[in-house]
Amino acid sequence: MDFTTLGKTGLKVSIAGLGCGGPSRLGLRNDSQSADNAVALIKQAIDLGVNFLDTAQTYGTEPIVGKAIAGIPRDQLVLSTKKTLPADDHPDPESEIAKGLEQSLKLIGTDYIDVYHLHGVEPKDYAFAKNRLMPAMRRLKEQGKIRFIGVTEGFVIDPAHTMLQKSLQEGLWDVVMVGFSLLNPSARKNVFPMTQKNGVGVLDMFAVRRALSQPSRLKEMCAELVVKGALAKDSVDVNDPLGFLLKDTDAATLPEAAYRFCRHEPGVDVVLTGTGNPAHLKENIAAILKPALAKASLEKLDRLFGGLDFLTGN
Ligand SMILES: NC(=O)c1ccc[n+]([C@@H]2O[C@H](COP(=O)([O-])OP(=O)(O)OC[C@H]3O[C@@H](n4cnc5c(N)ncnc54)[C@H](OP(=O)(O)O)[C@@H]3O)[C@@H](O)[C@H]2O)c1
Repeated sequence: MDFTTLGKTGLKVSIAGLGCGGPSRLGLRNDSQSADNAVALIKQAIDLGVNFLDTAQTYGTEPIVGKAIAGIPRDQLVLSTKKTLPADDHPDPESEIAKGLEQSLKLIGTDYIDVYHLHGVEPKDYAFAKNRLMPAMRRLKEQGKIRFIGVTEGFVIDPAHTMLQKSLQEGLWDVVMVGFSLLNPSARKNVFPMTQKNGVGVLDMFAVRRALSQPSRLKEMCAELVVKGALAKDSVDVNDPLGFLLKDTDAATLPEAAYRFCRHEPGVDVVLTGTGNPAHLKENIAAILKPALAKASLEKLDRLFGGLDFLTGN
């Protein structure tokens, strides 16, 4: 495993992080998979050198993380979890934040969280998050119950990173979780210059979703882009839009190419990968450790998707 420093937090983190949410939720979204399999996936990731684990109040995987890490010295792990936003008319949102943290600590079986995030802050939530929730987050940090404050964007609603662009100017966060992939690299212009300037740690989500793991979804998405005029018809093979990546680089699969794309982006600290499949986990961690894709292929990707800020690949 390779390690890096998560911005000014100083935390030493593996460049591959395990996402315990996402479409698979460690396999728990699929009824045939058990909690024991999910625990085994986390242990597998740790055995492969991953020390960064990301979960959330809403994922239902906090107790699974707790089971998997029992007995491991706490300082060998960097734990990230998230608080669902209380409603903006909640009578006491600050207590709700403190209560959520206590619940997470109990479920995970730890007495502190390394990075505690406000979960999925959309542009419409930002003023509420800043004015009503951040005082409680700062108090938890002062009390030592959380080490650093993070935010995750609502990427599906806000694929151009409006919330982060605004909030990063106000210096609220130690760490941010950002949607960034080869289909929507707009964070390169809209987010990373600011995080790098201010030493804010960056966790990358959405490196691989449906369009980059299901060929039929990719074809559909590119056909829609051609109809919209966002992709020139003669610039892309609509039957195999990213086939050139597998021909012109040494990547064996599109998910591999997609993870390598993210891992080598200056400004990305940790690439998150979530799965219910142990073989995928092994492949994805290996992909994140491989060298950058060939320059000519990166340039072609930039010509095709570099200007798009509305895709999620979901
Ligand atoms: N706003 C937020 O706070 C937010 C939103 C989304 C995600 N997150 C966090 O970020 C983490 C990463 O999220 P993500 O959006 O990037 O999704 P993800 O959780 O990494 O899920 C990736 C998806 O791609 C599939 N996949 C993975 N590897 C594959 C491979 N090698 N071949 C084919 N299919 C593969 C997985 O299915 P299989 O199970 O079949 O492998 C899964 O459905 C999440 O787990 C979560 O912790 C946070």
